[in-house]
Amino acid sequence: MSELLKGKVMIVTGASSGIGRAIAIAAARHGAKAVIVSDIAEAPREGGEPTTREIQSLGVPTRFFRTNVSQRSEVDALVESAAEFGGVDVMVCNAGITLRSDGADVAEEDYRRLMAVNLDGVLFGAQAAARQMKARAKSGSIVLMGSMGGISGAGMTVAYSTSKGGVVLMAKALADALGPDGIRVNSVCPGTIDTHLLRTTPGIAEAAEEFRKRTPLRRLGKPSEIGDAVVWLGSDLSSYVTGIALFVDGGLLSVI
Ligand SMILES: NC(=O)c1ccc[n+]([C@@H]2O[C@H](COP(=O)([O-])OP(=O)(O)OC[C@H]3O[C@@H](n4cnc5c(N)ncnc54)[C@H](O)[C@@H]3O)[C@@H](O)[C@H]2O)c1
Repeated sequence: MSELLKGKVMIVTGASSGIGRAIAIAAARHGAKAVIVSDIAEAPREGGEPTTREIQSLGVPTRFFRTNVSQRSEVDALVESAAEFGGVDVMVCNAGITLRSDGADVAEEDYRRLMAVNLDGVLFGAQAAARQMKARAKSGSIVLMGSMGGISGAGMTVAYSTSKGGVVLMAKALADALGPDGIRVNSVCPGTIDTHLLRTTPGIAEAAEEFRKRTPLRRLGKPSEIGDAVVWLGSDLSSYVTGIALFVDGGLLSVI
């Protein structure tokens, strides 16, 4: 479709499904040199193998790499695997979870499990990518998956909102820390995007229709629309953009 990502190697976590899968496929459509599809599990949902097959059919080299992002050693191994293609240029820390029961009384165990994926896992990915980029004297782009829940709070998602607010600030702080090395770090904040996570999270699934009605564009977002935004942040078209939270939300965060 384009050569926006020509010569760039992209890693996407949480890419067996939903938004991550769409980002990986968008990267291939926009001419990435290679795309590493990573997830804690190959299946179920759309699946890692079907995702790599689709990327292969576009003529782009790809691998599925199993990674639990909450384990630092596994994330390090994932980023190391990009050496095969010449090292990572665009790191997308997308893997994230919601809780079946969130809110003011969120259980400690659930809270820690969510933070381990949504916050620790994102930091480990950004750190490993930045280390490799610096070692190879490469500039690069790191994209962290935030959420509209990281900008506006909601009583039914106290732990989730806290984690995503952290991700948005993490991108700003890392942008400052890594900018001198030519490494850009931004977050993307999706609104209501039609994925498995949205459809199966209690409370959110029901709220989605209300969100849709209040969204200026009056529809849910498609995973591919997040993919396109990440392609832009990964490409040189955004070469002077770092530290931002890019809202891809049909306008929802801009209205009351
Ligand atoms: N769907 C939305 O409306 C929406 C809105 C805002 C933000 N987001 C964010 O977008 C990202 C993707 O969400 P999605 O809607 O595609 O959800 P999804 O559930 O379809 O995909 C999330 C993926 O992350 C993987 N994952 C979970 N735990 C992991 C771990 N420990 N290690 C590695 N991978 C793990 C899952 O296996 C899954 O494939 C998440 O960070 C989510 O918070 C989604």
